[in-house]
Amino acid sequence: MAYTPKNGKVDYVVFGLSVFLIFCLLFESFMELPVWVAWLGRWHPLILHFPIVLLLVAIFLGLTGRPIPNLLLTLAVISALITAISGFFLGKETGGKGDLLLWHQWLGGGLALLSAIWYGLEGLPLKHKVPVKIIQVLVLGLIVITGHYGGMITHGEDFLALPKDKKQDIIPENPLIYAHIVQPILENKCVKCHNPNKRKGELLMTDIPSLIKGGETGTALVPGNPMESEMIRRLHLPLEDEEHMPPKGESPLTESEMGILEEWISLGASDTLQLEHLESTQPLTALIKEMMEPDPLEKWTSLPVVADTTLIGLGSDYLTISRLASTTNALKVNVYMPPQYDPQMVLKLEPIHQNIVELDMSGLPLGMAELAFAANCPNLEWLEIDRSPITDVQLDTLKNLSKLRLLKVYETQIGNQSLPILKQWNTLESLYIWSTQVSESALDELKRENPDLLIENGIDTEIKSYFQALDSIPKNENP
Ligand code: HEC
Repeated sequence: MAYTPKNGKVDYVVFGLSVFLIFCLLFESFMELPVWVAWLGRWHPLILHFPIVLLLVAIFLGLTGRPIPNLLLTLAVISALITAISGFFLGKETGGKGDLLLWHQWLGGGLALLSAIWYGLEGLPLKHKVPVKIIQVLVLGLIVITGHYGGMITHGEDFLALPKDKKQDIIPENPLIYAHIVQPILENKCVKCHNPNKRKGELLMTDIPSLIKGGETGTALVPGNPMESEMIRRLHLPLEDEEHMPPKGESPLTESEMGILEEWISLGASDTLQLEHLESTQPLTALIKEMMEPDPLEKWTSLPVVADTTLIGLGSDYLTISRLASTTNALKVNVYMPPQYDPQMVLKLEPIHQNIVELDMSGLPLGMAELAFAANCPNLEWLEIDRSPITDVQLDTLKNLSKLRLLKVYETQIGNQSLPILKQWNTLESLYIWSTQVSESALDELKRENPDLLIENGIDTEIKSYFQALDSIPKNENP
């Protein structure tokens, strides 16, 4: 059973490439590649498509009992060998190899060599076709598995996993600064290129000691000194700078993310530091508090769905309804003074009362019925009832609004009797209250009990006239 080279010199090429590949795989740790060879590795992601397609066609023909054109198999095998060798170069260039890369490398090498054996067998006058068929099935299996490992290397280990529920990222009450805040930022924006499987610049960003150890150019993190820390220096480079991190095309860090990393490093890059340990005046405290605010769009996802047609049907020249963001069911309602006011124009909003988050009824001759309607809007966060004839009695109806953040009650008849209600609203952030019966001392008392509440009492005339202008223009337009 003498071997008869079918393709003459081409057979030697296949043999030579196979030997070279085996050599690479076996003696990898003794090899030091010149730069231009490493550069060849960058073609791997492009050329790997050729052997996949060619081999799949050849396998299909073989398994269905059709003749495989010699040229097809030759090209398939040579491209498979070249792909495996280029992949080896690419892996060398990337530096430290993780498990995924090692698996991918050995599977890919095996795949190319098995294809070469198949090619060799095709040149022999075999009586039985069974061994060849077995090889074809094995090659098919290897293509799938190798491709999968390759995908995990480039897209991350869980890229075929179903999308994760974002809720699991919720930050606890008193977070650990490193584990709950810093690491997720790095995880999102850096780790996909700086992990054990893909260690760009030899830098691992999965834990603090690795950051301190650093990469090719030395330490990436100097505890206590953000400006000396390479990982921070690179964030501040101009976007188009070669060394900017993350590289061009990746989404850069936001200002507050950068601030958090810097402040955490300034404070010593500790992994035990918690929010509670920080002074409230620390810049890091504000940055983290801001980050912990729930995404407003997310908090509104449970609101009932309202159709655009409903909104158009309820609106009029004197009543506008708009969504707070294009995709949300949270609504903002503005009511303007019509020539003949009828409380019914507010009351007919009943079908969408759960969706109203902002309600502006300033300047209207409001009575009990409208206030009772407002009190029945469970998601109300923003309420303007300024320049209306309301009194303490009517304000009292609002006391169960549990999400109210902003209230405008200036130029109304309310007095000190409303103080207890204003005090119990712990969600309230801004209060616009001037020209009422509420005394200065009552406001001082409120301020003392609720120091975070912003009380705008009309002393700043600029703000006052700004809000008056903002609120009155549309109404004057509609006489
Ligand atoms: C798309 C891949 C990618 C992402 C994402 C990425 N890097 Fe890099 N990083 C690289 C490459 C490639 C190098 C090596 C080339 C160089 O030094 O610029 C590198 C090098 C570095 C180095 C220098 C290592 C050394 O010692 O030479 C630091 C520090 C660094 N990155 C930090 C970061 C930080 C911080 C982030 C996240 C904000 C990040 N990288 C995200 C690809 C990435």
